[in-house]
Amino acid sequence: MQAVTRTLKVELGERSYPIHIGAGVLSRSDLILPCLKQKKVVVVTNVTVAPLYLESLRSTLEKAEISMIPVVLPDGEQYKTWETLNLIFDGLLGARCERGTTLVALGGGVIGDMGGFAAACYQRGMPFIQVPTTLLSQVDSSVGGKTAINHPLGKNMIGAFYQPQLVLADIATLDTLPDRELKAGLAEVIKYGLIRDPEFFAWLEGNLEKLLVRNKEVLAYAVHRSCANKAEVVAADEHERGERALLNLGHTFGHAIEAGLGYGEWLHGEAVAAGTLIAAQLSQDLGWIDEASVRRIEELFHRAGLPVTGPVLGVDRYLDLMSHDKKVQDGKLRLVLLRGIGQAVVSDQASAAQIGRAIEARCTR
Ligand code: NAD
Ligand code: GLY
Repeated sequence: MQAVTRTLKVELGERSYPIHIGAGVLSRSDLILPCLKQKKVVVVTNVTVAPLYLESLRSTLEKAEISMIPVVLPDGEQYKTWETLNLIFDGLLGARCERGTTLVALGGGVIGDMGGFAAACYQRGMPFIQVPTTLLSQVDSSVGGKTAINHPLGKNMIGAFYQPQLVLADIATLDTLPDRELKAGLAEVIKYGLIRDPEFFAWLEGNLEKLLVRNKEVLAYAVHRSCANKAEVVAADEHERGERALLNLGHTFGHAIEAGLGYGEWLHGEAVAAGTLIAAQLSQDLGWIDEASVRRIEELFHRAGLPVTGPVLGVDRYLDLMSHDKKVQDGKLRLVLLRGIGQAVVSDQASAAQIGRAIEARCTR
């Protein structure tokens, strides 16, 4: 019997695309086939994911008489670089891929972001499909078309907005995900509750343990609800001129942690969790959110096994790293802060001193 597949649509006019969520969707050639223009696809993946899922994808494609050229990259955030990106171009050119060949990104957010950026650049744009295999990539990075690589001076600094043709989120792939990665993904799930969906936040408080033991129905619901939130935000503000910036709650502080410690030391979701607590602290200091709400947020991240304090890098170092943030406008730092659970705002009202005090209070590791 075929497991339930939930389908959503990201509404972007002629660039609209479906997100299919469910256990086993990776074997559904009928979902992939309508997107393909050629009998050949390139699959970008990494050395960890390839032994787990490349053959399943190959047999799905073979059922539809599609051949596959794999490009297998090293694994890790530290490889989200120009050098690794070039390996994708080497593979595409070596296999004589054309503008109409489809690139499939099979893996977590690192593979999705790099594969998507390569697709945006190759011959000025080739079609691509996201097959996210981590919780974080299923609920966030595979949806919305942000693609990028890192620069030593800042995370995701070189990239493009480039939408996929399809997102295929197979919940069954989460079975093999290490616990630490599952927890990191929960940080982005909790984010949706915090920025715009207070009922979902309350649902997460009630269902966290089921998520941690990977109950498939509960996971599928959380992925679906997260993607529904993200799809609405992206449809309203694809290029982040307004509302989309709210999806970066905790990220300005989090990116500083990731860059400050060296990419790969803390997982993205871990850094976002600690960053969210710094943002919540600052919101409380500004009188925008009460202490009880901050405690509720801290409790949920803590139960999810995520850090609720950041590393001691020094306030000046944090502020320097944060000055590279993409939300900086006219040299002024804009932060995503909270006016309550489910109500985020972008604000430039916090002074450097206030930001520094929140960092000091929340960065004690
Ligand atoms: P990741 O891609 O590094 O994957 C985490 C680890 O899990 C890796 O070692 C990977 O090989 C492994 N893995 C992947 N799938 C697996 C599976 N099913 N079973 C076992 N192991 C598996 O990290 P991530 O958390 O998925 O993504 C983080 C990246 O996403 C960061 O670079 C971040 O900047 C980016 N991101 C992008 C967006 C966006 O909108 N584009 C949003 C959020 C995060
Ligand atoms: N992950 C933030 C965004 O997609 O805008």
